[in-house]
Amino acid sequence: MKKTMLFFAALLCAVPMLAQPKLTKNNIDEVIKAMTLEEKATLLVGGARAATVEGVTSGQAAGPVEGAAGNTRPIARVGIPMTYLADGPAGLRINPTRQGTTQTFYCTGFPVGTLLASSWDVDLVQKATSCIGNEVLEYGVDVLLAPGVNLHRSPLCGRNFEYFSEDPVLSGNIAAAYIKGVQSNNVGTSIKHYATNNQETNRNEADSRVSARALRELYLKNFEIAITKAEPWTVMSSYNKLDGEYAQQSEDLLTKVLRQDWGYKGIVMTDWGSKAGTVKSAASGNDLMEPGNQTEIDRIIAAVKDGSLSMDIVDRNVRNMLNYIIKTPAFNKYPYSNKPDLKAHAQVAREVADESIVMLRNEDNTLPFKGVEKIALYGIGAIDFVAGGTGSGNVNKAYVVNMKEGLENAGFKLDQDIVNYYESYMAYDKAQKQLSAAAGRGGFNMFSSNKYAEIAVPEAAIAKEADANDAAVIVIGRNAGEGADRKFKDDFELTNIERELIANVSIKFHEAGKKVVVVLNVGGVVETNSWKNYADAILLPWSPGQEGANAVADIITGKVNPSGKLPMTFPIAFFDHPSSANFPYNYTNNSQQAGGFGGQRQQPQLRKDVDYVNYEEGIWVGYRYFDTADKEVSYPFGFGLSYTTFAYSKPVVKAAKDGFTASVTVTNTGKVAGKEAVQVYVSAPAGGLEKPEKELKAFGKTRLLQPGESQTLTFNVSAYELASFNQAANQWEAPAGNYVVKFAASAANVQASAVYKQAKAYTKKVSDAFIGYDGVKEISLK
Ligand code: BGC
Repeated sequence: MKKTMLFFAALLCAVPMLAQPKLTKNNIDEVIKAMTLEEKATLLVGGARAATVEGVTSGQAAGPVEGAAGNTRPIARVGIPMTYLADGPAGLRINPTRQGTTQTFYCTGFPVGTLLASSWDVDLVQKATSCIGNEVLEYGVDVLLAPGVNLHRSPLCGRNFEYFSEDPVLSGNIAAAYIKGVQSNNVGTSIKHYATNNQETNRNEADSRVSARALRELYLKNFEIAITKAEPWTVMSSYNKLDGEYAQQSEDLLTKVLRQDWGYKGIVMTDWGSKAGTVKSAASGNDLMEPGNQTEIDRIIAAVKDGSLSMDIVDRNVRNMLNYIIKTPAFNKYPYSNKPDLKAHAQVAREVADESIVMLRNEDNTLPFKGVEKIALYGIGAIDFVAGGTGSGNVNKAYVVNMKEGLENAGFKLDQDIVNYYESYMAYDKAQKQLSAAAGRGGFNMFSSNKYAEIAVPEAAIAKEADANDAAVIVIGRNAGEGADRKFKDDFELTNIERELIANVSIKFHEAGKKVVVVLNVGGVVETNSWKNYADAILLPWSPGQEGANAVADIITGKVNPSGKLPMTFPIAFFDHPSSANFPYNYTNNSQQAGGFGGQRQQPQLRKDVDYVNYEEGIWVGYRYFDTADKEVSYPFGFGLSYTTFAYSKPVVKAAKDGFTASVTVTNTGKVAGKEAVQVYVSAPAGGLEKPEKELKAFGKTRLLQPGESQTLTFNVSAYELASFNQAANQWEAPAGNYVVKFAASAANVQASAVYKQAKAYTKKVSDAFIGYDGVKEISLK
């Protein structure tokens, strides 16, 4: 008996020696060896509880960070903590209140991605996102599900506001700055949605049919730039298919391009919806399934057991996951405060909007206002101001300054009758909606836009108001969000009520000798050509965040000189975009019904632009098309006005070891201080592949230049960055010859140029991704 007890005592003492290793920064291999298959599968599948919102499955994490979109599962036995993943991109999205406490958890609503890109200022973007990253850290979150970088293929993609641009170089560099800013807090980002998720209609199933050239030069290029420059901790694979295969199951995308061609080392997670092919996802390079469910864990276990998934692949993904885990604040036990400095961040949000708002028109120096005290403020959007979009891109902010408050804060007096008119309409409409919700119709849906429709203002009233006020400001508002694309009619195009409002206000105020300013509080491009001449000035703040209306007022008063420029083209007509031939611009049976979340729709007949989308325009997206086809636009890519003027001089281009170094001097030739965003385009030598007239290769922004002051900006462009993709040869090519380097204020305004002579042809082979698939028949501009 004594002997047996001694034996057990000895065994107990030995247990610590046999104990499983706990994860440290240096024992990943050891931990992998110690993990069971069940534990490994668990680590590869997210652990969110699925919450159902109006038939839509969206992840809501359990645990202390309420409202985070998802989490990874903890495995305590080997010291793996749970980590939290939350949206993005215009700030952190978590629940602002929690049961059992009066403490609040609001986050700062920053300007949307499109406005960030309108700054053309990577330092400014990094400053903004370092504040967002601080909120991520201080609220106990590990990864921000941002930035969203999908290219603006069509002006109508419902999520364009979250994304940056129609150009991959602008988009990729702004994204790199975004990632660096967030990750400077030792928290992660998830660049999304990889790849070709360029529409929301049937987003779960739509098959983007794209050529390898358009992919490599446009739709992957922005990811490539951001990933290679800024190393995001995670990449989010998109819902849609690419050339017949789900992006989240594409080895070409997730392993060959991402890891072989670009050297990516982080993890890949799926977008939020499970597909049947968990095993294929894991095998093709998708490390983490989000939001995750038990079925997916079981699939991985079963596949390893029946030999259809090798343990090597599982271990590869587990290793990626553990390399991620050891970087997280959760693993490093960061003592988060739940108290980020929201006041300081709000100031940064305002500064970013100040520096990014685009002035599209300013006839007779209407702005900044001089001698204007009393303003007639029109448009329901003046009160119902849109700070950001809907869906996962929405941020739960403590407040939104609307245009009325912004102008009042700046010291203007507003015509109270007009304000009352809109406010009482909104109160009435809200009461109606509450009634109908009480009757069981409608209700909360995070994907719907709750924007108030514009209401007409009687002409007689406007005539009176034109006499009583010094100027008019009209706000045109739009909201959008994931799950649906915008429509061509009454969305891209203004509604009749909006047109009448602009026309009537302009006519009456002009008769009274007064000026009219239109503020476009929109998430995406709208038609401007048919009405712009009515307005004396047009400001484009996009959806500028919680402090954005104060920033609009800063521009109106002249406290800030506008320096934002367009990150995309404003066409004359929607149909001028070649992509419009293959875009569901009027599809009404949209969003969640079409394909659903995670649903595998059975459809005998494939619907053009819904089940499949032919990217027939190839590389002819945005200004690449408008420039080359010499097609007139309403406002060109890169356009934006200032209260001062700039001269470009001393264009210099020098061959470097790899490519060239270019510089240009910018002088403020006007009367007020200002900043200028400079664009460097390159026109390639003729011959070889069909190419755009010119392509953006670099950009930069001056500091605030005083009148008469100059600054020389320098840019480096490598031979690789000059190259186009020859899909027949599966390589990048930059032929020898003369490249014209154009220093420009916009795509339509080249100010100076110089020639770079490339002595030798440059080529670079790539992995064999996308071989044998030619995409679709593409248009040619020859
Ligand atoms: C969106 C992602 C988002 C995720 C988590 C998805 O529906 O497409 O952008 O990060 O939900 O909220």
